[in-house]
Amino acid sequence: MVHKLSLIVNGIKRTVEVKDNEILLDVLRDKLKIKSLKAACWRGECGLCTVLLNGKLVKSCLVLAVEVDGSEIITVEGLVKDGELSPIQRAFIEHGAFQCGFCTPAFVLASHQLLIENPNPSEEEIKEKLGGIICRCGTYLEIIKAIKSASRFYQKK
Ligand code: FES
Ligand code: FES
Repeated sequence: MVHKLSLIVNGIKRTVEVKDNEILLDVLRDKLKIKSLKAACWRGECGLCTVLLNGKLVKSCLVLAVEVDGSEIITVEGLVKDGELSPIQRAFIEHGAFQCGFCTPAFVLASHQLLIENPNPSEEEIKEKLGGIICRCGTYLEIIKAIKSASRFYQKK
């Protein structure tokens, strides 16, 4: 059976037809052409397919597309405002918090959400929040530095 979904993706209304068994990851990448999402396991272990679904971090390989009709989805592209990178995106660049970059969209998105929820996180809180995402290049220390340096932009003045 085919379902017509209506979504807000990175602030833009999108409609897409999906089958019962299609996962959100494939719909976003293959039908809506959002290529920042990556996948390595398709079973919830690598975290590379992480998106914000109605303000919550989810692994999109574990979500059936038919379940998200009417939802708001944000990927790392959605953090750019008026052509300007967000503070956390700039901090990742300034701190060299990636090597191959395969994991980077997921880490940036999760780091952004962490700072929204907790603008001054401890190292332990950072590790806990990002624990579900794997970086094969081992850039974890630089990611922690990037989050700490961007945190001032998320704290209320
Ligand atoms: S593809 Fe690995 S968690 Fe989704
Ligand atoms: S930068 Fe290569 S997997 Fe994280």
